[in-house]
Amino acid sequence: MTTVSSAEHTRRDFLYIATGAVATVGAAAVLVPLINQMNPDASTIAAGAPVEIDLGPIAAGQIVKVFWRSKPIFIFHRTPNDIELAKKVDVASLRDPEPDSERVKAGHEQWLVVIGICTHLGCIPLPHEGNYDGWFCPCHGSQYDSAGRIRQGPAPKNLYLPPYKFVSNTKIRIG
Ligand code: FES
Repeated sequence: MTTVSSAEHTRRDFLYIATGAVATVGAAAVLVPLINQMNPDASTIAAGAPVEIDLGPIAAGQIVKVFWRSKPIFIFHRTPNDIELAKKVDVASLRDPEPDSERVKAGHEQWLVVIGICTHLGCIPLPHEGNYDGWFCPCHGSQYDSAGRIRQGPAPKNLYLPPYKFVSNTKIRIG
């Protein structure tokens, strides 16, 4: 009868794991070029290829910045309070009157997607700053609300909306 010592076990296990690791690396090496081929390269993205964004990791209340056509895009996962604040504004009193419903996609009111360029002279406004639960532009003091609408300061227009659509409940395609 042959007995295998625990040292031999360990060695065998190590060899098995090491072989497995090599196989995994090999498979990964094959996969990477395929994935790279499927993704547009940086110059294609800069030229305007659509980008898909997974919204899953963005927590309620968080604003993240991504880039599309070299432009900053803010994606705001609005809380019920953010939405309520945006909805209760008297639209007629706004400089660039737009109801909240025209700033978001129906059924996805918690997601606000705007181009992060101040409509005054093009600075990038700071998220979660200012008096309106939205953005503050440090260049000349424009303030935008939780629907990205201009509320105070010299900017003439609301933050522009990029073309985008929901491709699933948790994913958007911009462009
Ligand atoms: Fe934003 Fe002037 S560029 S306020």
